[in-house]
Amino acid sequence: MTVTVENLTKIYRSDGGGVVAVDDVSFEADQGELFTLLGPSGCGKTTTLRSIAGLERIDEGTITIDGETVATPGASVKPENRDIGLVFQSYALWPHMTARENILYALKARDWPKDDRDSRIEEVLDLISLPEMGDRYPSELSGGQQQRIAFARAVAYEPSVLLMDEPLSNLDFKQRRRMRRLLLEMLDEVGITTIYVTHDQEEAFEISDETLVLNQGEEAQQGTPQQLYEHPQTPFVASFLGEANLFPASVDAVDRADRRARCTVSEGSTRIEMECTYRDESVLSNPTVVIRPEDIYPEARTDGAAVRETNRWSGTVDHRFYRGSFTQNLVDVGDIQFKIKTDKPVLDEGEDVAIAVDPGDALLVSSG
Ligand SMILES: Nc1ncnc2c1ncn2[C@@H]1O[C@H](COP(=O)(O)OP(=O)(O)OP(=O)(O)O)[C@@H](O)[C@H]1O
Ligand SMILES: [Mg+2]
Repeated sequence: MTVTVENLTKIYRSDGGGVVAVDDVSFEADQGELFTLLGPSGCGKTTTLRSIAGLERIDEGTITIDGETVATPGASVKPENRDIGLVFQSYALWPHMTARENILYALKARDWPKDDRDSRIEEVLDLISLPEMGDRYPSELSGGQQQRIAFARAVAYEPSVLLMDEPLSNLDFKQRRRMRRLLLEMLDEVGITTIYVTHDQEEAFEISDETLVLNQGEEAQQGTPQQLYEHPQTPFVASFLGEANLFPASVDAVDRADRRARCTVSEGSTRIEMECTYRDESVLSNPTVVIRPEDIYPEARTDGAAVRETNRWSGTVDHRFYRGSFTQNLVDVGDIQFKIKTDKPVLDEGEDVAIAVDPGDALLVSSG
């Protein structure tokens, strides 16, 4: 089923005033899609999800599930009458019930046919690959296992939409990775439209079909993970999704045919010229250059090949952070500092180095 959110605004009111938690947000999650809401703490992800679930009254906009309007400011379908399953960060399993009883509780609440309840419970325990754990209490299960039970309970009554709010954030790093894969397999099997909330960019990248980035209650940008990473539209999106060098710039000349612009970047007493690329002319009035650290190459890495003549600067390695599978370096070109990523620790602190970037990898976005 398709979930459509149009111009959603939610304000939490109190005596002292109000917090605009969600501000005019619109998106659509298509049938079977895994749609993520991604953004920093407090940007309105949970509020958006709770509005779709029917747990919050909305102030403006419309929420539609498969063509049926379930929420407007004036009218709201009750949560239990929306065809939705919910999974929370805290799992929210009943501690005094076994895994099986937790699932049964959900089936009863949704009037699942009595005769079919036992077989349905076995089915979903199989789905989460925990067929033998049905009689355990939550306290007798690991965090990852509890989360799988919570998932089984959420999909047991075959809702058409699944909402998940940071479901993996209580797990440790390795478990989280394993659970992501498992989650994808389970969702694939169920084929359910899913809206998934996370503040973890890596998680969003790994699991999402489509992602909406939120910033302070507002839409920042929507796209596939690759679109967002390669074509961020703002400095916020560029830096929230991965590492980025961000340099406010002024434009000196524009080559419209090739979408190239010659810019000046200044910091302190240093000014450098930079050939950049852009997608939309509207950014040229107030641009910031975005360069990913992996797109800057130091001379030491070029294996003797000619280093380009334009967009090449001499600098000094200020710092080297060894991270195992890659090394991050800070290179000072006068007062301008570049973050550079190399797959081998080829640079030493204090070393003089020439660095270069292809104009196609120096993307101008609007400073906003
Ligand atoms: N019940 C409430 N009353 C008043 N303000 C609230 C309430 N719930 C949330 N807020 C505020 O609304 C804004 C959005 O909160 P929300 O919980 O949706 O953010 P979030 O993106 O889910 O953050 P996190 O990643 O920390 O979970 C925040 O500024 C928050 O303080
Ligand atoms: Mg939240």
